[in-house]
This record gives sequence, structure tokens and C-alpha cells, in this order.
Amino acid sequence: MKRIFSGIQPSGGVTLGNYLGAIRNWAKLQQEDYHCLYCMVDLHAITVFQDPKALPQQTREVTAALLAAGIDPKTSIVFNQSAVAEHAQLAWIFNCVARVGWMNRMTQFKEKAGKHRENASLGLYAYPALMAADILIYKATHVPVGDDQKQHLELTRDVAQKFNSDYGVDYFPLTEPLIYGAATRVMSLRDGSKKMSKSDPSDMSRINLIDDADTIAGKIRKAKTDPEPVPVAPPASDEERAARPEAYNLMGIYAALTDKSLAEVADEFGGAPFSAFKGALTDVAVAVMGPITAEMRRLMDHPDEIDAILRRGAEDAREIAAPILREVYDIVGLLRP
Ligand code: TYM
Repeated sequence: MKRIFSGIQPSGGVTLGNYLGAIRNWAKLQQEDYHCLYCMVDLHAITVFQDPKALPQQTREVTAALLAAGIDPKTSIVFNQSAVAEHAQLAWIFNCVARVGWMNRMTQFKEKAGKHRENASLGLYAYPALMAADILIYKATHVPVGDDQKQHLELTRDVAQKFNSDYGVDYFPLTEPLIYGAATRVMSLRDGSKKMSKSDPSDMSRINLIDDADTIAGKIRKAKTDPEPVPVAPPASDEERAARPEAYNLMGIYAALTDKSLAEVADEFGGAPFSAFKGALTDVAVAVMGPITAEMRRLMDHPDEIDAILRRGAEDAREIAAPILREVYDIVGLLRP
């Protein structure tokens, strides 16, 4: 059976990058021949300190975003990571399978730890092993994510392969990443060389799913561009893209929101001043996101409804995870007296 697992950190609001790079695809994949699990990865979120008073509400907000974006809890399993202890239990075993050298190569750790590497949490360093556990505790075969998660998914395959070969079994599948769409890497509105991120200190750098129409309009109006008009064609090379990162980023967002290709967007707006293009981009962003925002706000007024969905999701997830963990314990030789 084809099984999908994917996760999102409840470390702040949900951004347009999360939506276009991941969540929108998650909703569509439900209609295909997959069994889907979608998880608020709160154990990953606390690898960087989270205010314990705010974290439950952040977890509910991210859940509300998924539901509002069309993820149906009757078809997909929707839950939070800490409610299924098997994730952390398998992660420990994977800490013993993965190698320190593999972790040292992770670019996301280097970026997040920055100059203060010695002071980063051990959890942040081991983050990819927990991520491998999230996926493999369900023996998921496919993982839909944005481009930034590619390296972590390669490590997940390495962990599966090493576990299988260390223990002489053919137990864990080699998971396939699903990275597709016009916006696999949405960039910051203030700096086209940086990813749009919920942890960026500037709220102007991102569009949040919870933003109202005026806020979206203001952020797009102030989004950084260069003095040239809209490009007349998609970038022919990485160098060309790097020369005008903000311009191509806004075009990519428009393409993703309207389900068009970058070439079609270039045909439509090429040569126009950015002020005109920004107006059109605001209109489509508000049209696509408005209904999602409204439903998110409605759900957030009903936290009991969200908690009930998460509770049922955790039960369903545990039913799959528990027998797999038992088998893993047997393979590893951990006594279950
Ligand atoms: P997170 O919470 O940073 O992001 C959730 C999803 O959104 C995608 N994404 C983006 N896509 C395009 N442009 C952007 N600017 C952008 N920002 C974020 C991410 O690629 C991701 O798909 N480590 C993961 C969470 C995780 C996970 C897992 C994912 C934990 N366990 C197991 C898949 C499978 C993360 O931090 O995602």
C-alpha cells in the first residue's frame, strides 16, 4: 500500500510557503490512491525553545490551517507528534543507527544553529533522526514536502538502509520524496535569497495564512523588487534567477496561486511595471487565501473541535505505529518481558 506521511512544525503561524510548497499538495494527494497521515510535529518545534503557554495554541492554529486548506480528518489521519510516543521511541533507536558524520552534513542544522553551534540543543542536532522516525514508524512510502526538506529525506533513506543492513532485514521501505508544483521554494518578500519562514524576525517577510486582505495587500505592496519591469520569460539559468530573485519569486507565487506555469505568467505580465503586477498578485492571493483564513478563524474559535480531531487522529496513528515499534524492538533484540 502507498502511504504518505508529512509534518509541519507548530513553531509559529503557517506561511504561504508552507501552503504552496506542502499543505496544498497534501490536500490534493488525499484524492489519490494514498493513505495519508499529517502531523503537527511539536517535538521538533521544541528543538528551539517554545513558550509553553503559547505552544498548545500554535499547535491548534496549524491544525486549523490544515483543515481549512482541505485536509479531511475523515480521510486522513491528523494528529500531533507528542501524542504518539512511538515517534520518540523509534527516534532513539535511529539515534543509534545514524552516524554523527551524517548529522554534520545537514545544512538546515548549520543554518539554524548559526554561529552558536556549541550552544544549539542536542535535539536540534538529532532533529533528522526524529524526522526519519516520524516517517518510518508508519513505513510511509511517500513524503510530500517543500524543497528545503530534500536533504532530510535523503538521510531518512540512509537510516532505513543502514537499519536494514545492520540487522540483516528488509524491513523499512526507502521513502520517496514528493517535491512538485510551481512553488517548492517560496522566498522571503524582503530578501529573495532567503526562504520565506515562520521564524523570520520580520513579519513583513512572509504572508501568513491568518493575515487579512489589508495585511496581505500591504505586504505585497512593500515586497522588495528591482527597478526593471516584469521579466518577459522564465529564467534560462540559475544565474539568471539569482540576478533577479525577488522578481522570479513573486512570479512563482502568482503561478502557483493560479495554477499557471512561469512562462504563462511571463507572457501575461512580461514588460509591465511591478506596481501593476503586484496589484494582480494581491487580488489572486486574497481570492485564494480569503476562504482558508475565514475557515481557520472559525475553527480556532472552536478549540474543542480541533482537540477532538487530534485525539482521534492520535488513536488511529498509534494503531499503526505500535505494532511496527514492537517488531522493531524484536529485530533489535530489546526484551519485551
Ligand atoms: P516546516 O514546518 O519548516 O515546513 C512544513 C512544510 O512546508 C514546507 N515549506 C516550504 N515550501 C516552500 N517554500 C517555503 N518557503 C517553505 N517553508 C516551508 C516544508 O518543506 C515542509 O514540507 N522538518 C519539517 C517537519 C517534519 C517533517 C517530518 C516533514 C518533521 N518530520 C517528516 C516530512 C516528514 C519542517 O521543519 O517543516
